[in-house]
Amino acid sequence: MIADVVLGLQHGDEAKGKVTHHLCSKGNYTHVIRFNGGCNAGHTIYHEGKKFVTHHIPAGVFYGIESIIGPGCVVDPEQFFKEIEELEEAGIPASALVSIAKNAHVITKNHKEEDGKDSKIGTTKRGNGPAYRDKYNRSGFRAEDMPCLEGYLIDIYEELYSKQNVEILFEGAQGFGLDIDHGDYPYVTSSHCTAAAALLSGVPPQAIRKVWGVAKIYETYVGAKRFQPEGDVFNALQLIGEEFGATTGRKRQCNWMDLDNLIKAVRMNGVTDLVFNKMDVLREVGEWKFYNDKKLLEFKNEQEVKRWITSHISLTSPVSNVYFSGNKDRI
Ligand code: IMP
Ligand code: MG
Repeated sequence: MIADVVLGLQHGDEAKGKVTHHLCSKGNYTHVIRFNGGCNAGHTIYHEGKKFVTHHIPAGVFYGIESIIGPGCVVDPEQFFKEIEELEEAGIPASALVSIAKNAHVITKNHKEEDGKDSKIGTTKRGNGPAYRDKYNRSGFRAEDMPCLEGYLIDIYEELYSKQNVEILFEGAQGFGLDIDHGDYPYVTSSHCTAAAALLSGVPPQAIRKVWGVAKIYETYVGAKRFQPEGDVFNALQLIGEEFGATTGRKRQCNWMDLDNLIKAVRMNGVTDLVFNKMDVLREVGEWKFYNDKKLLEFKNEQEVKRWITSHISLTSPVSNVYFSGNKDRI
């Protein structure tokens, strides 16, 4: 068994969807597995010129790859069926390709109602927190308890261990800065967003080949805490970067990238391949800045930034490849 992992290194919305979609088109994966989160996630994917926003359904469906919602996820059946329908209408055979681990937990109407009243954290109001709370309280419902999901259920052990040459792409949701343990608690999500969380799906650590860490060249965050500093340039980042939540439509708060936080995320996740997205946004904004060692560094141009980051990363972390990409570029 071989597994690659794609995960976010900041606060979600690093364009993980683009990276998974690209890897699915290139690789020999037999399975794509979402390993955390629920429909709080919004993965924007451009496939054959068309825009898709998926919440639950892994990106494998665009390339005919079996796609699993893993045991670390929480599933809202209503949203799940809505998404299947939308994909099917667009000609993607999602229904035949998607399955749900029978031990994944379910988001109920009550969970959504409760989360809908949140104002403290600024959640996506999709019922995530209450569903995970009930899971750990041992009072939740599993996918296998829901008759409506019956046709989609699988046993993850049977699925992955009864076949030869299994090659998995793990698709993470949210990001390290929102991780329940390593993020800025309580302004976090309710699941684990690390490479370790991919293994919780029931895969041995030895199976991991590559860990793709995805970042933006600046940072965004959506939620209740104050994140964006004063200054017009941050509004420009928000506008030019089209920084609106894919799930809720909320404006994302913007700031310069913090390289110290990024390196922490890279090291703690064992990132081997690092992708910086949205280079073209800083190009258009016309300022090249990021924080390092708590100081704001300023650079003359893109080349200087790339050179500085690449050499700094190679000195401080296990990364073998660094990629820089624009919003609309391929990797
Ligand atoms: P929850 O996951 O809906 O409980 O929200 C907790 C925090 O995580 C809030 O600040 C949300 O805005 C944020 N969050 C959850 N999912 C995502 C995501 O996919 N992208 C960006 N932020 C997210
Ligand atoms: Mg998103």
